[in-house]
Amino acid sequence: MPPAIETADLRKEYGDLRALDGLELTVEEGEFFGLLGPNGAGKTTFINVLVGLVRKTGGEARVFGNDVEADYRRVRDAIGLAPQEFNVDRFFPIREVLIHKAGYHGIPTDEAAERADEALKRVGIYDKREERFDWLSGGMKRRLLLARALVTDPDLLILDEPTAGVDVQLRRDLWELVTELNEEGTTVLLTTHYIEEAERLCDRVAIVNEGRKIAVATPEELKRRGTDTVSVALEPTPATAPALGPYAHGSALSGGRLDVRVDDGSRIAPQLLRDLEADGYEITDLEISRTSLEEVFVELTGRDDRTVTRSTAEERSNEESTAERGQPEGVV
Ligand SMILES: Nc1ncnc2c1ncn2[C@@H]1O[C@H](COP(=O)(O)OP(=O)(O)OP(=O)(O)O)[C@@H](O)[C@H]1O
Ligand SMILES: [Mg+2]
Repeated sequence: MPPAIETADLRKEYGDLRALDGLELTVEEGEFFGLLGPNGAGKTTFINVLVGLVRKTGGEARVFGNDVEADYRRVRDAIGLAPQEFNVDRFFPIREVLIHKAGYHGIPTDEAAERADEALKRVGIYDKREERFDWLSGGMKRRLLLARALVTDPDLLILDEPTAGVDVQLRRDLWELVTELNEEGTTVLLTTHYIEEAERLCDRVAIVNEGRKIAVATPEELKRRGTDTVSVALEPTPATAPALGPYAHGSALSGGRLDVRVDDGSRIAPQLLRDLEADGYEITDLEISRTSLEEVFVELTGRDDRTVTRSTAEERSNEESTAERGQPEGVV
């Protein structure tokens, strides 16, 4: 079986700007794959090349072995996309929007109606089926985008920031639903600024920055690349940080605790305790904390996504009706 997505040296230029700069990615069939990167990294551009909304400047892109340009139709029929920006016809009841979408992909009207109902039920807005898009709340709009992506029963589901600005309950609902779909065999490509979400859902994640791939691995593997912190409370409190073995990459005294950075906290902790006891300290408390995926992300991209997430979500809710493409300005 060919991979669900395979790109080589993928490039997209807007004048001097390289939105995609030789991006190479492979997503296997059946995978739950995360695409992480700061604002402007090229995630949406990558997705738009796959679905034919953006024409690549160079390189190769295939979906289930089909070239995204030469076999456009087949590629488009295989993908269900829930886009980052709302792009739904505002004048029709949402059920009709879905029926129309299914029809566009060659599904006969009767079946299209059945599928529309099924998709609306699955995302939990069936009771809103006769309402227009504009009348839905922000969270319901996100649900509708997902329903529209599902109505064609896609082999590849692409979710571009599906949980931006949605409440905790809906986020959990969406997680459960996409996990279910993935278990049923749907390949999922997800972009998100909630690193915790990627960590929870994805088999593998790619971190991209400035149109290039920086890393691809399981969330676990990525976290292992970071360091752990072993934090101990000592009696008596030392005046300066005690000298330690070469396993310590650094240490700091703060609030009466000694924080020591090591590669593998649980493996090193016993040695650390022995060394401190040999120096005459009694250990009254111990905590080991692992590097979070978020910290690894910041290390790799040099960007703190947390601030980005907050302001993007806020501004998006203010700008919902005028949102065309791209991000509100000044968000980093
Ligand atoms: N139509 C366009 N014309 C000019 N530049 C564009 C266009 N579309 C995207 N870009 C630029 O390409 C770069 C990548 O944008 P893209 O939307 O792919 O980023 P992203 O990773 O999806 O970011 P975000 O996390 O903010 O959604 C950005 O610098 C953006 O300004
Ligand atoms: Mg984007």
